[in-house]
Amino acid sequence: MKSAAYLRIVGFAIVGYFVLDFAGSTGETSIFTEQPWLWILLAVIMLFYIAGEIIVSTLGSILYRTLSPEQQLAYDKDEALEKANQFKGIKEAYKNLLGSKPIEEEATIVLDHNYDGIRELDNKLPPWWVYGFYASIIFAVVYLVRFEVLGGENQHEEYLAAVEQAELDLIEYKKTAKDLVDFETVELLTEASDLNAGKAVFTSNCIACHKATGAGGIGPNLTDEYWILGGGIKNVFKTISEGGRAGKGMVSWKNDLKPSEIAQVASYVLSLTGTNPEDPKAPEGEIWVDPSLQVEAAETVETTEETATETEETAEL
Ligand code: HEC
Repeated sequence: MKSAAYLRIVGFAIVGYFVLDFAGSTGETSIFTEQPWLWILLAVIMLFYIAGEIIVSTLGSILYRTLSPEQQLAYDKDEALEKANQFKGIKEAYKNLLGSKPIEEEATIVLDHNYDGIRELDNKLPPWWVYGFYASIIFAVVYLVRFEVLGGENQHEEYLAAVEQAELDLIEYKKTAKDLVDFETVELLTEASDLNAGKAVFTSNCIACHKATGAGGIGPNLTDEYWILGGGIKNVFKTISEGGRAGKGMVSWKNDLKPSEIAQVASYVLSLTGTNPEDPKAPEGEIWVDPSLQVEAAETVETTEETATETEETAEL
């Protein structure tokens, strides 16, 4: 095979990679990291392509052998010519970009100065340099007007804006990254979609012990206000995630359910409170009061106790 064929193969592989990546990629990560089997697809396509190249070049050499010696000579000459002209355009463009005279023509631009045999050429400035210089003048004018005259953002302001944006992005991200929740950060979910998802998790994992209605069986009644391990979304999340007391039969679900699913099923369980299903299991544990509401409740209890002691004292007298 010719070297051009190798170049074509490499080029084909690169193009193939980018076409697949562009066609399939959804987000910021490359499709090849998301779907590693695509490497195999690319490899298979490459195999077919290389096979095609080999067939074409073999056909070429077979045909060459069927030519008469004169024809072969003529063919070789053509090939040589083609080779000489290969990349001619590129070479030419490169020379133009440098703008220097070829060595054969240097005599026309040599200056009279002669420093101990060292002579000076009056080459034109290379076009890339000249246009770069013009471009930098235009850039400088635009920059000056934009940032010094019209007062564009300086680096510090840009930095502050970027930080602000990053904070917004973080909030957005936390909303979508539901699996970041744990029992400390979890909030009660009330969306119908979340509760339905929670119900699905409950139906497929929990009804053997808690019944489809949550009325209880092997496990306690989940629909009353009594909780063994604490009510409220945070405790319920923790119970489901870490399991109940050792040996009681409520296992930890954190290896089977994602945090988002635990949040959903916990919210679903709490939505069952007060549904009064048929044939409920007797209450176990204690009535659970939300600690944030408990402060007021505790105060009321204290005052009652005080009054009680006072009454007792009076009675003793
Ligand atoms: C193998 C039977 C079994 C399965 C399956 C089971 N549980 Fe339990 N569950 C129990 C038992 C037993 C307890 C009581 C644990 C204790 O006393 O420590 C319990 C306790 C609980 C509690 C705490 C109740 C309270 O009063 O504090 C919640 C909430 C709960 N389970 C939810 C679930 C959810 C949600 C699932 C499904 C993901 C589930 N359970 C699956 C047996 C089970």
